[in-house]
Amino acid sequence: MSQAKKNYSRITTASLLEMKSNKEKIAMLTAYDYTMAGLVDQAGVDVILVGDSASNVMAGHETTLPVTLDQMIYHASSVVRAVKRALIVVDLPFGTYQSDSKEALRSAIRIMKESGAHAVKVEGGEQIKPSIERLVEAGIPVMGHLGLTPQSIYKFGTYTVRAREEQEAEQLLKDAILLEKLGCFGIVLEKIPATLAQKVAETVRIPMIGIGAGPGVDGQVLVLHDMLGMTKEFSPRFLRRYLDLDRLIREAVGEYTKDVKNKNFPNDQEKY
Ligand code: KIV
Repeated sequence: MSQAKKNYSRITTASLLEMKSNKEKIAMLTAYDYTMAGLVDQAGVDVILVGDSASNVMAGHETTLPVTLDQMIYHASSVVRAVKRALIVVDLPFGTYQSDSKEALRSAIRIMKESGAHAVKVEGGEQIKPSIERLVEAGIPVMGHLGLTPQSIYKFGTYTVRAREEQEAEQLLKDAILLEKLGCFGIVLEKIPATLAQKVAETVRIPMIGIGAGPGVDGQVLVLHDMLGMTKEFSPRFLRRYLDLDRLIREAVGEYTKDVKNKNFPNDQEKY
């Protein structure tokens, strides 16, 4: 039987755990700027991820690798100024936490202090254990990310589904158990078979947030620009588009341009 949905005035990592135990699904979306983050927050999303997908959708890079710590702090600060309810998680960018745990701590402290965000997200399992330990010890809430981890795209060579093979699936489950043990408050599972994602979600106590991981997890995340239909060239099976914003923006800008050219804008009421 489904429980009555609790009204949270402010989402914390504890609220997410509570949602999982109450079987309430967690809604998470990315945002990178003040205006969009305010809209997303007011619409009731639980978690806002200032994702390193900013590298793709904000800056136009092919991968998430080029985005810098300073750029992530800029995006995160803009989001923090707009958000009243959602938990704000910020991606630690590539190269700011993998080499050693001291550097990971320095990077995460900069994000927390300079942006005012609530948590950080890191990609990987066993191989970044010392960094996660150090962050958790310092009191920084950490979210994991397993499966297709875009910061490792040059190792994978493709954005295809991960952990189809038994060995990789077993390692992923082990990593999820490890991340829970290390004190992570949740994990993003990206592009893995739905049966595996469900098994992981049933095995660990912390929430599993899926993207291309099927319905058997504790919540879902999408990149905002993808679900609003602004990124037409990106069409994976898991992406549901809720709006055709690409078309709407082109039409609006086209109308405006026509009005300016035809001297229809501004009119008598639109001048001083
Ligand atoms: O950077 C990002 O947007 C992400 C999501 C795809 C989960 O990590």
